[in-house]
Amino acid sequence: MRDNDLDFSSKVALVTGGSRGIGKNIALNLARRGSQVVICGRKQENLDKAREEFSKTGLEVLTHVSHVAKAEQVSALFHEIEERFGRLDILVNNVGMNLLTPSVADADEVLWDKIIEVNLKGTFLVSKAAVGLMRNSGGGKIINISSIAARKAAPGMGIYCVAKAGVEMLTKVMAVELAKDRINVNAVAPCMVRTKFSQPFWGNEDMLREITKTIPMGRIAEPSDVVGAVLFLASELGDFVTGEVITVDGGTMA
Ligand SMILES: NC(=O)c1ccc[n+]([C@@H]2O[C@H](COP(=O)([O-])OP(=O)(O)OC[C@H]3O[C@@H](n4cnc5c(N)ncnc54)[C@H](OP(=O)(O)O)[C@@H]3O)[C@@H](O)[C@H]2O)c1
Repeated sequence: MRDNDLDFSSKVALVTGGSRGIGKNIALNLARRGSQVVICGRKQENLDKAREEFSKTGLEVLTHVSHVAKAEQVSALFHEIEERFGRLDILVNNVGMNLLTPSVADADEVLWDKIIEVNLKGTFLVSKAAVGLMRNSGGGKIINISSIAARKAAPGMGIYCVAKAGVEMLTKVMAVELAKDRINVNAVAPCMVRTKFSQPFWGNEDMLREITKTIPMGRIAEPSDVVGAVLFLASELGDFVTGEVITVDGGTMA
């Protein structure tokens, strides 16, 4: 280990969905440790709010409106990254979405496509674009934000479980395929995290009580709980770790 192992000052990082929640927390922490950071999201106003938060703490961030499952928008995002920085060292595929869904057998095709597209196809498209830049600069780190839902079927979120299981296998496949390019591909899988995404669950006192009972540490996660595992994987401390999923769940899956 070196004293400056969590110093990212020579790095360029992209955090998808970095305008709020877990992604914003990761992006801020990378920027605080010196990284040049790019965030993307669908809505300009959310990106503007995040940029204000960065500048209040004296940090800069490049924002770009981009839907991760739309190939042409991903391509425009990478065009801008290449123009501005000429490289990409760290990609955090953080975008994910879920809706309260009926059982898989009762779900319609539109719902299936939407959830699979944003969670799985989005991760594929952004990773594919990132690999081109990472190969040019001799390697990189890709970190996919999964969920314990990838390994535990949960009512009301079946399609999301399938999508995140896909993200975890994509992580392993790409890790094996890209090891020769010095590109590490790993995932971080949290339990429920207090963000807008999961507010319908933790915002209801009865549900929160029931969910908390399943977490040995007795609380749901905060966005900051997820950051440590991501920084480890993004740093040189994780250089020999690839194809791995770090579970951040207060002991739930144990
Ligand atoms: N919160 C939880 O309980 C929990 C638990 C386990 C895993 N996770 C995973 O953690 C990740 C982050 O979740 P979060 O809770 O931080 O979510 P969040 O609070 O809903 O934030 C999602 C972020 O992604 C952006 N976004 C959404 N759809 C997008 C798209 N199609 N293209 C580009 N950007 C998009 C949003 O901005 P715009 O709305 O402006 O696009 C926002 O910045 C997700 O992968 C989620 O599955 C969350």
